[in-house]
Amino acid sequence: MPARRPAPLKIPLAAASVLVASLCIAPAAHAAPGNPGTPRYGPGTAGVGDPYFPLAGNGGIDVLHYDLDLDYTPPAAGAPLTGELQGVATIDLVATQDLRSFNLDLRGLTATQVVVGGKAMAFSQDDKELVVSPRPKLKAGAQTEVVVTYGGTTTRPEDIEGALYGWVTTADGAMVVNEPDGAPTWFPANDHPTDKASYSFEITVPEGLVAVANGLLQGSETSAGRTTWLWDAPDPMAAYLATATVGDFALSQYTAANGTPIIDAIDADLIPENRDITNASLALTGEMLTFFEERYGPYPFIAYGAIVDDDSVGYALETQTRSFFSRVAREGTVAHELSHQWMGNHVSPERWSDIWLNEGWATYSEWLWSEDQGRATAEESFQEVLAIPADDEFWETVVRDPGPFGIFSGAVYDRGAATLHALRGEIGDDAFFALAKTWVAEFGGGTASTDDFIALSESVSGQQLDAFFDVWLAAPTKPVSW
Ligand code: ARG
Ligand code: ZN
Repeated sequence: MPARRPAPLKIPLAAASVLVASLCIAPAAHAAPGNPGTPRYGPGTAGVGDPYFPLAGNGGIDVLHYDLDLDYTPPAAGAPLTGELQGVATIDLVATQDLRSFNLDLRGLTATQVVVGGKAMAFSQDDKELVVSPRPKLKAGAQTEVVVTYGGTTTRPEDIEGALYGWVTTADGAMVVNEPDGAPTWFPANDHPTDKASYSFEITVPEGLVAVANGLLQGSETSAGRTTWLWDAPDPMAAYLATATVGDFALSQYTAANGTPIIDAIDADLIPENRDITNASLALTGEMLTFFEERYGPYPFIAYGAIVDDDSVGYALETQTRSFFSRVAREGTVAHELSHQWMGNHVSPERWSDIWLNEGWATYSEWLWSEDQGRATAEESFQEVLAIPADDEFWETVVRDPGPFGIFSGAVYDRGAATLHALRGEIGDDAFFALAKTWVAEFGGGTASTDDFIALSESVSGQQLDAFFDVWLAAPTKPVSW
């Protein structure tokens, strides 16, 4: 076999400091002197190079599938909100470079064993990263199975802005919502949208509780006072969209008019007023599926449904195939989270700075639904945004680069939606809705950036739109002409 020259290590600039840190953990191997053809096995970087979340994701690996076997005990009645979680994550991955070590993101839980290719391996863990040193080392292109046994006490984690996220322990279970980087609070992950994978779940909880994950329910088995819930989610999914929510849920299943199986999980403890609002809103799911299919193309996943918990993280999340709602599911939010299945989940942000592509589209989808239902028109919603005074700090957010603390700011949602409405005016209805469908068809299953969106807008419309997008997405001022 001819000796192979190692490919140069490609390191995104923003990950450089992270690399230095990981080099300290696992120094890069050097080619043996006198044997220059030996592959140079290095460490995978500790992050994929997302400037907003430098440690999110991991270099050098591509996860194909996560099988998450979880055993969870919620707090005892009246006890503080902590639970006990034990997990075995079986992760099928491919090395994308010659690796002497690679990282997985894991926070607040302790790994006790890591098996690679059937053999126990050396590993180390700090507060954010699990570093695995497989032997034999992994050659670029090699597929292997990594089994991580881990566990610990669950709490109520918060994101950098102080919002609850991740595995949020509740009185009767857990609310599990991970955007943007909360997945590592409950499983070892390559936690970045650029690495989508399929998932399967076996979640064991005390008998009487229900564990709700993504995709289709395969069944449940009860023995010795504990029930294991089996879920299968074969559609490629970013880690922030995975869930394994546990609670006192009533499951209801039906098939929507477009053929999609719907599984809703409604907390038995919702207050009556919220239950009524929730039931009325979720009853519109089938009609909304058809509405968004007409605008964005076929629904991209094998199932859908809602989880409505009686506790609150303070927001809803477009958990893939099973949107999560805190305490109540209101009609506008139901439309918002459903539209994210196309815009955000099927086409996901390449970098967290591209978040307006999720939230702008989902907010615009609410506007379109409202108009269709005979309430405010999209134009009226647009004019409401334009009515915000020019000196309001709302206009200071650079929508295409809102900063890590601004990814869920009002401007990302409302100026994002206004950008789409203004674009529709600029290129016309035909080009705009062709753009929406082409966007989903072209980038579905993967990720896309703001530059991808601008380029596609220009090619679909045949118009030069740089100045337009500068005014709407890049200027920290209120658009006056475009
Ligand atoms: N993507 C969610 C929505 O717009 C909001 C998520 C907020 N997450 C957070 N960590 N604050 O529906
Ligand atoms: Zn949203």
